[in-house]
Amino acid sequence: MTEPAANQAGPQTAAPPLPPLPKLLVGQKALVTGANSGIGKAVALALAEAGADVGVNYVVNPDEAEAVAKTARGFGVDARIYQADVSNEAEVEKMFASFVGDFGALDILVANAGLQSDASIATMTLAQWNKVLSVNLTGQFLCARAAIAQFRKQGDSRRVSRARGKIVCMSSVHQMIPWAGHVNYASSKGGIMLMMQSLAQECAPDRIRINSIGPGAIRTPINHDAWATQAAYDNLMKLIPYGRIGEPEDIGKVAAWLVSDYCDYIVGATLFVDGGMTLFPGFATNG
Ligand code: BGC
Repeated sequence: MTEPAANQAGPQTAAPPLPPLPKLLVGQKALVTGANSGIGKAVALALAEAGADVGVNYVVNPDEAEAVAKTARGFGVDARIYQADVSNEAEVEKMFASFVGDFGALDILVANAGLQSDASIATMTLAQWNKVLSVNLTGQFLCARAAIAQFRKQGDSRRVSRARGKIVCMSSVHQMIPWAGHVNYASSKGGIMLMMQSLAQECAPDRIRINSIGPGAIRTPINHDAWATQAAYDNLMKLIPYGRIGEPEDIGKVAAWLVSDYCDYIVGATLFVDGGMTLFPGFATNG
């Protein structure tokens, strides 16, 4: 096999690391849900690299969450772990209360926790539908509601950012690309789009900035089968004009930038970070 070119990746070859982040978020307190692995982990580490103190939310695997917190502390920030199922109202409320008790404030929420439970419509159970909608959509609603209440309570007392608070909803290219065999997941992400936009409209007058990131195919356990073998990877590349899979860091660093004051005027936007997946690459040679 030939060596991948400078910015390329492969089934077992990650793209080279991105440049280090400047300290854009010093003094800010950030909570990231689903942060013990995958995209959430990369987001928590990027926020820490940018100088924010971070809360690492997880449901199972406290050891993984603690390892993320430990790596985050290596950037010279405080980091703690919080167990909560984001689809459980009482657990979410308790997590936000504990976070504010520990850190004294909340400046950033990245509502990232999400899952897939794939099935064709002929075989998808109501339990599969409800589980994905509960975690992916209701979970983001519960966390956003708690964060907004805290931002409003803090008012202008925080002096760390132009906005009174920032929320990033982790959406997907599948908020706009239909996905056969994944109707629960695509519906949850389509729901996130209008939830985010409606909340952004409602809360912008309070100087609360709410946006989404729409990742494409990122190398994480959720889509392992789509990239782990050369054949699967080659097939996936038909959907990605930029010619490589995304790495978790591709999302983490964008999230850190999006919540920084460089993006103070970005309100209610979805930033697709997908190597061009949403460019309908099939049309490059057809139509
Ligand atoms: C899904 C992945 C998928 C990607 C692109 C993501 O939202 O979680 O499984 O590879 O979209 O289709």
